[in-house]
Amino acid sequence: MCGIVGALRKNANVVDFLTDGLARLEYRGYDSAGIAVHNGDEIKRVRRVGRVQNMAQAAHAKNLTGHIGIGHTRWATHGGVTEPNAHPHISGGLISVVHNGIIENFEAERERLQALGYEFNSQTDTEVIAHSIHHEYSQNGGDLYRAVQTASLRFHGAYAIAVICADDPNHMVVARMGCPLLVAFGDDETFIASDVSAVIAFTRKVAYLEDGDIALLSASGIETLLDKQGNVANRNTKISELSLASLELGGHSHFMQKEIYEQPKAVADTAEIFLDGGFVPENFGETARQIFSQINSIKILACGTSYYAALTGKYWLESIAKIRCDVEIASEYRYRDVISDENELIITISQSGETLDTMEALKYAQAQGHKHSLSICNVMESALPRSSSLAIYTRAGAEIGVASTKAFTTQLVILFGLAVTLGHLRGHVSDEQLTNYAEELRLLPGSIQHALNLEPQLSAWAKDFATKPSALFLGRGIHYPIALEGALKLKELTYIHAEAYPAGELKHGPLALVDENMPVVVIAPNDNLLDKVKANMQEVGARGGELFVLTDLDSDFTETDGVHIIRTPRHIGVLSPIVHTIAVQLLSYHVALVRGTDVDKPRNLAKSVTVE
Ligand code: AGP
Repeated sequence: MCGIVGALRKNANVVDFLTDGLARLEYRGYDSAGIAVHNGDEIKRVRRVGRVQNMAQAAHAKNLTGHIGIGHTRWATHGGVTEPNAHPHISGGLISVVHNGIIENFEAERERLQALGYEFNSQTDTEVIAHSIHHEYSQNGGDLYRAVQTASLRFHGAYAIAVICADDPNHMVVARMGCPLLVAFGDDETFIASDVSAVIAFTRKVAYLEDGDIALLSASGIETLLDKQGNVANRNTKISELSLASLELGGHSHFMQKEIYEQPKAVADTAEIFLDGGFVPENFGETARQIFSQINSIKILACGTSYYAALTGKYWLESIAKIRCDVEIASEYRYRDVISDENELIITISQSGETLDTMEALKYAQAQGHKHSLSICNVMESALPRSSSLAIYTRAGAEIGVASTKAFTTQLVILFGLAVTLGHLRGHVSDEQLTNYAEELRLLPGSIQHALNLEPQLSAWAKDFATKPSALFLGRGIHYPIALEGALKLKELTYIHAEAYPAGELKHGPLALVDENMPVVVIAPNDNLLDKVKANMQEVGARGGELFVLTDLDSDFTETDGVHIIRTPRHIGVLSPIVHTIAVQLLSYHVALVRGTDVDKPRNLAKSVTVE
């Protein structure tokens, strides 16, 4: 969603950094962009609806230069997609602000500030921040840091903000509460960003701010940093390991295509955690052995694709580790009465680690008395792992395409590794079985590679889907969540309505939808449910529905009129859902190409959903 960048550079213009940084945050999803730069005399601003590139061209045309500046990509929440609503916002020609998050009490604050004589030029909650800081600044005799401190006491909600002031071309104040913000250090230059990908072309030295931190920055670094309690604080500087190559297309047409093709490596890298380190609790954190031996059930909280990973993981956790596992959509869990259980492990799954609903669901679970939590996450140092007692990172690398691909398959590897680890610890997995599971994991990247070779066949299918208004995805057992993921991918990427059902549920309603205009994708691996799935396919065939069957090399299907078949590699047993995922990803990708939709940035969607 929204992205923040900022820079203070002693010897260089900040505009190139600001526009480059915002371009690197484009993947998060946005609808307008802007920068504000102090040119030594005053703050100049450029904002545009649409792409960062348009805004960057306008900034260059206006000859914007300066040694200090802030920038923002906005994903509309309060107020439409208009230039006046785009950030940065300026109050009284003096205070300029960029903001991520939501100020929940902005209406009351707006009324208060209007009564003080402030005029509002936008419909945003952010303008409240700018005016509020302006007001405090004029009251306290021109101390920007103190103005931000006092004003922020009034803000309810989540925010990361960066503030510059026309009176001071050498300092910036940043504050964080609930939304990520980092400070990065170069030689005589300091940068800020909501996401490390914005800065690594310039420096890898980063420090992550914590909730409640307010920092005064100059080109030399952090001059003052006070924490939530107002105490002087230090935040460790780390060297980011994110590779620049992962942020570039590297010959691929889209990030999604690149990320689909990175899966053999991403899965192998993630599997290495267990293949090199063993299926031991310590992979999940220093205290994991002690926590794992206390728990008697698991609840997984997640959203979207991560939720489907959780649904898949439930099968492994219950069948391999023999531990009860419930899975809930985070945005539902956080608003219902729950029964607390201090022996239940709360697991959150998130690519970004900053999905607000998942974060709030975790906080809610903790407030209800859940003691133990584990975060499965892709982004280092993000909010969820930092708020959990245990954490394990997928090794997918940066995922830029809004539609999640390699994050999902690597989450599945971790969930499988967790199931085997718990199974062994709880005495349900013998040493011999452990060796077999390790072998299955070792062979997985090869099977994924085979599935990738199916791209030409899936691309041929795509033409049949591209003109259809809807599609149905069916699966049974552990492949039902993969049908759900297939339907979500098709919706996101192609805007075709798609639904997924457990195949056995067809006759209880969705069969009414089936006619010759409804392509039905069936995930039909050669497992113990194959005969059941075949029976469900008969039900579709008898109603004139066209079947697109994803099955394994060794299953006994024959292609007939109205039954199209693509065979993934030989059935690989318990890890089969991961291989079938590749096929549904490629199918959606190719339908999107035929329909000409924006593959990497589907309309209305954002990579990290940091609002409710
Ligand atoms: C997946 O393709 C989606 N873009 C979306 O459902 C995503 O998985 C969801 O928003 C959760 O994100 P997270 O994994 O970063 O928490």
